[in-house]
Amino acid sequence: MKLTERVFSGMQPTGSLHLGNYLGAMVQWIEMQKTHECIYCVVDLHAITVWQDPKELKQAIRQVTAAYIASGLDPKTSILFNQSQVAAHAELAWIFNCVARLGWLNRMTQFKEKAGKDREAASVGLYAYPNLMAADILAYRATHVPVGEDQKQHLELARDIAQKFNNDFRAEIEAKGYNDGAFFPQPEPVITGPATRVMSLRDGTKKMSKSDPSDLSRINLTDDADTIARKIQKAKTDPEPLPTEEAGLAARPEADNLIGIYAALAGKTKAAVVAEFGGQQFSGFKKALAEVAVQRLGPIGDEIRRLTADPAEIDRVLADGSARARAIAAPIMDEVKDIVGFIRS
Ligand code: TYM
Repeated sequence: MKLTERVFSGMQPTGSLHLGNYLGAMVQWIEMQKTHECIYCVVDLHAITVWQDPKELKQAIRQVTAAYIASGLDPKTSILFNQSQVAAHAELAWIFNCVARLGWLNRMTQFKEKAGKDREAASVGLYAYPNLMAADILAYRATHVPVGEDQKQHLELARDIAQKFNNDFRAEIEAKGYNDGAFFPQPEPVITGPATRVMSLRDGTKKMSKSDPSDLSRINLTDDADTIARKIQKAKTDPEPLPTEEAGLAARPEADNLIGIYAALAGKTKAAVVAEFGGQQFSGFKKALAEVAVQRLGPIGDEIRRLTADPAEIDRVLADGSARARAIAAPIMDEVKDIVGFIRS
């Protein structure tokens, strides 16, 4: 990838980050810092699409920021900030509300899952959520978006929005000197983390998620060594020993998930892990898994605790990142306003 490319991604501050966030997205974010200009956002505007207690939200924003830094993001190299401090996100989201079609949003599976049976009671924000996500990315004209697999459909929508905006305003965009008519790029999903879909420890057919009521379903980045070991020990399994070939994982979602987690944490392939533990009982394998998990995540948890003890310093990082983000988004928003036909002074 060329250096002119720009990376944008974000995570919601709704509770602690978990192993799925880490293996699905964060590891890739850290990698991309080495080659790209990266903008990493704590998406607090997205968080309030479902009710958030204001005091807890503040804590969660700081905690997620601390988790970003503790995991290996460098606030000097990359831009780390919270979404609500940069007005461009909400402004561009409104314009995209007027570009995206109802039919497109009606197809979003995440809305259907999150709204559940009582759709009438869901917030309008939850419905329009993917438009805000498109605005997050395109306010910086970002080209690459590292995410887990569950965000793929939202990114396809962001691409459709970029394309429709470029088509709808073709004449104005060309008049601005964009001869190829492409004001917004088509942002590319980068779904290449070591485990792009980590499943719940209680049910191998469900995604590991912050909103699962059972804390035993996920490993949080803030869990201490004992908690990590206990959750792995209690993780659901089936009665068979581990398979001796990777193909044997096909109809065994829990075994597949635990082997996948081990492989991702240890930097090995699933085939190599199966070769190592094939034929053994889960009990021994779980001990080995707990060991690699504690080794990898323990220091991150310690660092999160150290950083959150100084909230003023975290707020300074966010203020600095927000100012740098604003500086990139402002000229882009000026052009968007010209293109749409607004008057600005
Ligand atoms: P969020 O906060 O649900 O998740 C943050 C990131 O973690 C990934 N992820 C997972 N990966 C693998 N296995 C899992 N079980 C798992 N759970 C979560 C997600 O795919 C994501 O990459 N809408 C986004 C946040 C967002 C965003 C954006 C992302 C807002 N604006 C712009 C990219 C670009 C979300 O709710 O992620």
